[in-house]
Amino acid sequence: MKILKAFISFTTAAAMLNSPFLADTAISSLALTDSDIAIGESNTVRGDLNGDGKLDIFDLPIMRHSQPAPQTHTSTTITNILTGQWKTEGSIGIRDFTFNNGTGTFIMEDTGFQQDFTYTVQGVSFIMNIPYTLPLTAVMTWTDSAHFSLKWNDGTLEHFTLVSDNSANRQQNTTTQHSISNSQYSSPTGQHTIQNINGVTYIDGILVANKTYSLPATYNPNGLLPEVDAAFMEMARAAWNDGISLWICSGFRSYEYQKTLYNGYVSMYGKDATDTFSARPGHSEHQTGMAMDIIEASSAFEGTPAAIWLAENCYKYGFIIRYPKGKENITGYKYEPWHIRYLGKDTALAVYNSGLTLEEYLGIDSVYNY
Ligand code: DAL
Ligand code: ZN
Repeated sequence: MKILKAFISFTTAAAMLNSPFLADTAISSLALTDSDIAIGESNTVRGDLNGDGKLDIFDLPIMRHSQPAPQTHTSTTITNILTGQWKTEGSIGIRDFTFNNGTGTFIMEDTGFQQDFTYTVQGVSFIMNIPYTLPLTAVMTWTDSAHFSLKWNDGTLEHFTLVSDNSANRQQNTTTQHSISNSQYSSPTGQHTIQNINGVTYIDGILVANKTYSLPATYNPNGLLPEVDAAFMEMARAAWNDGISLWICSGFRSYEYQKTLYNGYVSMYGKDATDTFSARPGHSEHQTGMAMDIIEASSAFEGTPAAIWLAENCYKYGFIIRYPKGKENITGYKYEPWHIRYLGKDTALAVYNSGLTLEEYLGIDSVYNY
């Protein structure tokens, strides 16, 4: 057990750090106890990795940023599922887009300039081809089924909002590509719409990741969504004015990172115990770019002034406490006063006022089927 833990942490840190002293360090020389090595929820690897008797702490996100970005957009599956009329806002100005099965048009609202193009969507990559120019590429991030952002390779950011669904095209894509499915169901909280777009589940337009609904391994916004980052900053400023300092100890986690984290916990605590507090890869809200842990992901956070402030105020900034106390059987997880999920201000207020978990609010469950 100890050797496995040491190996996981050693190889993770060594691979990410590429540090010469680690290459010379024999694993057998490490004398680690249970308490001095762990892959933390806070994205750190801790351990006496060079055997000098001191605890070494490696911050994975910082190391990750100092490494070349992983190649996450290698999927060759082309899914032109983007259809309908969309309006943008952003530094390029307001544009009215029509997407139709790989061909599109945009019109600049201020000048009336019109441009035809072809486009492809490959995982999170959006590629636009305008005749006689180089292809333009962007990272595509869906907030829900009616909103997405494109971060173009020149750094500009555009937010898209669905104006008209063009459901005839969507239906056509459903039958030809199986990329979108729509259905309805009833629950005690009403009638709900469930959509699956490229393997991602949206219920009443809200992206859901829990034990029942997973995300594809390729779903990788590569960080917190810009809107979520901005909402956190707004909340942190308000907390600061109330004498509370908030910080994010774990934000976005990729599928791969969650896999390392989850497997690390399994090696320490076993699968059953781990499933009560850590999501299996593909099932973590951290992979959505819309969830974060505040200050400290441990029971020590419970009851602190920051935890109390967060519980009382986070909905005002678009967040909910996602795994509340007493709802463990519904959310599938232990109470996590530090884990917040962004829903936008209107939905967060509605969920807060309902006193329900997101599962209850959407009439869904959170149970692994494997
Ligand atoms: N701790 C939460 C459930 C996660 O692993 O995403
Ligand atoms: Zn969390």
